[in-house]
Amino acid sequence: MTAAPQHEPVMLREAIDALALRPGGRYVDATVGLGGHTSAILAAIQPDGRVLGIDRDPNALEATRGRLASYGDALVLARGAFADIAPICTAHGFVPVDGILFDLGVSSMQLDTPGRGFSFRRDEPLDMRMDPDGPTTAAEIVNTYDEGSLAGLIWDYGEERNSRRIAHAIVERRPIHTTAELARAVEAVAGRSRGDRIHPATRTFQALRIAVNDEVEQIETALQAAEGLLSGPGARIVVISFHSLEDRVVKQFFRDRARDCVCPPRQPICTCDHRATLREISRRVAKPTDDEVYRNPRSRSARLRVAESVVERQAA
Ligand SMILES: C[S@@+](CC[C@H](N)C(=O)[O-])C[C@H]1O[C@@H](n2cnc3c(N)ncnc32)[C@H](O)[C@@H]1O
Repeated sequence: MTAAPQHEPVMLREAIDALALRPGGRYVDATVGLGGHTSAILAAIQPDGRVLGIDRDPNALEATRGRLASYGDALVLARGAFADIAPICTAHGFVPVDGILFDLGVSSMQLDTPGRGFSFRRDEPLDMRMDPDGPTTAAEIVNTYDEGSLAGLIWDYGEERNSRRIAHAIVERRPIHTTAELARAVEAVAGRSRGDRIHPATRTFQALRIAVNDEVEQIETALQAAEGLLSGPGARIVVISFHSLEDRVVKQFFRDRARDCVCPPRQPICTCDHRATLREISRRVAKPTDDEVYRNPRSRSARLRVAESVVERQAA
């Protein structure tokens, strides 16, 4: 018998509180994964509340369909990328909605399932696609990008200070087909130094995963679309991110939308006519408790932000 896949939902209590759920409401979990957050949302919005759960990983959807079958029609699951949240919501009759949750990144199931190529802890083909039908694998990037582009990607998405040396080592060893080959290339130039808490390949693997799945672009597009789906004042967008680049995108988006004027700072009179559409619930980012980090070390880099609509929804 194989064990059911597991993923411990991160900042669960905080995310549920941040959504300000109401019974009978309609919500979107844009990264439903194994349904940890969705299960808590569904429990809180009965009777009559409904959730649309989106994921680009069909394996996650299949597991969640089984786990949360008892909710029947209250849970609708859709395969797709959350950059397409607007057409997906429209297709399933989920417009407008009272709240939207994004819990970004990979799930423990994806990291732990053999054969998906997310982890350097096993030797397997270098894939890293959340959507197994996605256009680009990590092996394609590693074997086709020029050295400068690889270094830029590892620096930008991995915040890896050895990015140039790692890119050089990769190019020298090509072709690279497996996670172990890639990990060895990184270790050759960025060995573990004393006091390092993480494996030397961690940041390079993270960078490739972000590039393969187009993660930063996805969230930029999705936030803009999500705002247009909200039902009116009080409807919320909650985002849990695990990478400073993503958190910066979320923070900037919420700040821009919360401003009444976006004219250049030196301009004496406002000419932009811009009006705030969102309000940040708190300007301070929320982090997991020490207790949660102790119980679930994968939560350590989680950052939660929340904003709510301040505009009446225009009749369609
Ligand atoms: C951190 S996990 C979510 C875990 C979930 N909250 C739970 O409690 O089980 C992130 C999930 O989002 C999915 N995902 C990541 N980026 C996505 C995107 N751009 N579009 C759709 N799904 C995405 C991944 O496939 C993964 O299953």
